Amino acid sequence: MELIFATGNKHKCEEARTILGPSVSIIMPSALGFSGEIPETGTTLKENALQKAAFIWDKFRIPCFADDTGLEVDALNGAPGVYSARYAGESCSPLENVRKLLLRLQNTSARTARFRCVIALITDRQPEFFEGVVEGKIIREPKGTGGFGYDPVFVPDGYDKTFAELTATEKNLISHRKRALEKMALLFK
Ligand code: IMP
Repeated sequence: MELIFATGNKHKCEEARTILGPSVSIIMPSALGFSGEIPETGTTLKENALQKAAFIWDKFRIPCFADDTGLEVDALNGAPGVYSARYAGESCSPLENVRKLLLRLQNTSARTARFRCVIALITDRQPEFFEGVVEGKIIREPKGTGGFGYDPVFVPDGYDKTFAELTATEKNLISHRKRALEKMALLFK
């Protein structure tokens, strides 16, 4: 079975290939000659995931899926959430996002948070959605060099290391994306 992953992120694609296994062939839009931006203007993770998947489906009419992820911090009423990528402003760096987050949380000991990932899958039927969540807390200083985004300040429950201190294999065992992909994988088994 062939599935397009509507993303430009090779790292995410590799993760999906490992989790979905050899019976599903994951193709990136770039492999089909698409090199533009995939629009992402929704106000929820679900809307964004569907928008990205529908955009690529409309172009190629090949079954495809897209994911959207947000970091939800309880003390910030769920922010940055769907705006995680541009929390510190349009085209800001991941480091600027992390700095803004730590500043907003500097006077509180309430540090609980979660990564939530929503996947939208479009085949020739109604779109289907799969969600994966990992609970944890935000520490006060970034630690570790692995991963990306908010990984250096997120410690998953049951661990005393940030996602950026865990190996990729360790992170991918428990990550939000892994949990959502696994649910989608059940559909193909
Ligand atoms: P997207 O789903 O790739 O659009 O993710 C939105 C933003 O969430 C990214 O820019 C990252 O800042 C953050 N993010 C997504 N997944 C992860 C992760 O696994 N670790 C840390 N940050 C993440």
